Amino acid sequence: MTVSLLCIDCGRAYKPERRWQCECGGLLEVSAPDIRISRRDLDSRLADRTFPFSSGVWRYRELIHPLIADDQIISREEGNTAIYSHRKIAEYAGVDDIRMKHEGQNPTGSFKDRGMTVGVSEAVRLGCTAVGCASTGNTSASLASYAARAGLKALVFIPSGEIAYGKLSQSLAYGARTIQIKGNFDDSMALIMQACEKNDVYLLNSINPWRIEGQKAIAFELLQQLGWQSPDWIALPAGNLGNTSAMGKAIAEMKSLNLIEKIPRIASVQASGASPFYRMWKNGSSVLSAAEHPDTIATAIKIGNPVSWKRAMNVIKGCNGVVEEVTDQEIMDAKAVIDASGIGCEPASAASLAGVRKLRASGVIKRDERVVCILTGNMLKDPTATVNYHTNKLEGIRPAFANPPVAAGADLEGIMRLL
Ligand code: F0G
Repeated sequence: MTVSLLCIDCGRAYKPERRWQCECGGLLEVSAPDIRISRRDLDSRLADRTFPFSSGVWRYRELIHPLIADDQIISREEGNTAIYSHRKIAEYAGVDDIRMKHEGQNPTGSFKDRGMTVGVSEAVRLGCTAVGCASTGNTSASLASYAARAGLKALVFIPSGEIAYGKLSQSLAYGARTIQIKGNFDDSMALIMQACEKNDVYLLNSINPWRIEGQKAIAFELLQQLGWQSPDWIALPAGNLGNTSAMGKAIAEMKSLNLIEKIPRIASVQASGASPFYRMWKNGSSVLSAAEHPDTIATAIKIGNPVSWKRAMNVIKGCNGVVEEVTDQEIMDAKAVIDASGIGCEPASAASLAGVRKLRASGVIKRDERVVCILTGNMLKDPTATVNYHTNKLEGIRPAFANPPVAAGADLEGIMRLL
C-alpha cells in the first residue's frame, strides 16, 4: 500500500514522515491511491460497538489513516453525531428539506475532535512527545484533551481576550500550556509555526494533512447516515478553511470509490467582518489577500489569513460550490432560530444557516433542493454571546428573536401577575 504526502503546489511526494509542509512552502495532502472499500463493508461496521469501529472516525480507517495500528489510536469515540430537522429552521431558510448535522456533539463539543483524534494518533505513531496549535478556541480545546489522553505535552497559542470562555476553560482544565498572545489568531498562527519548528513540537493545526484526513469523517458519516444519497448542498462555516478542504476531499474520494453517485455542492460561509475567502471568490482572484483586521462576534471564525485557502478554493471549484458572507446580525438571528428549535449551536456554526437563507433569497439555492448544514460547535461553548443576544447587549445587533429573562420578587402573587 502506498501512502504519501503530496505537495499541492510542486507535486513533490514525501513518505509519511514528521512533516506538515512541503519544502517549497506548499500545503501537503495525504494520498493513498490503492484503497478500495464498498458501501457494504462500511455498512456492516455500523452494528459493531467495539473499538475502533465504535468511533465515527475510525469506522472509516482505511480512508483516513491506513497505516496506523490499533494501539497507536487515541480516540474518545468521537463522531456518531445526530442529524436534526425542524419546521422553524426550514421556514427560516425558505428550503423544504434542510437538516443540521450537529458536530457540537463531539467529546469536546466541536467538529475538531475528528481531525484531532487522527493528528494526535499520528503524533504517537511518529514518537513525538509534544503537540501544539494556534487556535480561536476549539482546536486548542480538542488538542488539549487528546494530548492529555495520549500523555503528550500540549502547547497552545490563543489570541488574548478573543476566545470564548468555554473554550479557554477547556484548554486550562485539560492541562495544556496555554499562551495568550497579544495579537489576533493570524499572529498566533504565524508564531506557533515558528515555535513548533524550533522546539520539536508537532504542529496540529489544520495545515497538518492528517487533521484534514480525520475531518473527512464528517462527510463519510453524513453520507452513510443519508443512505449514501447525496444532498444537493452542504453548507458550512469557514474560517481557516480546513473544514471546507476536508469536505471536498472526502466527497471526491467517495465519488471515485463509487460510494456516492452525485457530488453535492458546498456552500462555504464566512462572517462578513472576516471574509477574505469570500472576497477572493467574488473577485475571481487567483490569490488570497488577507483581511487586516478581522472582526466578528463568531470568534471561532475571526480569521483574516486562512492557511488552507488554496486547497479550499480547489474544492469550491471542483464541486461547483459557492462562497458566501453573512453579517453578525444574520449569524446571531440564525443562531437564535437553531437554538429555539431545541438544538442549539455556537455563533460560528449558525453562519451555515444564515448563508443558506441568503443563498435561497438570491435564488442560488432552490426551495426544493436538499440541504445539510454542518453545526460545528456546541451552544455551551459561548454562553456570553447567547445571553448578551437575549438581553439585547450586543453592540450593533437588534435581536429579532430575543427571549430575555424576567426579574421577579420572591412572592408567588407577583410572579403570577407576570405570567
Ligand atoms: N466553526 C467552528 C465552531 C470553529 O471552531 C471553526 C474553526 C470553524 C467553524 C471554521 O473551520 O477553520 O476549518 O474553516 N476553528 C479553528 C480553531 C480556527 O482554532 O478552533 P475552518
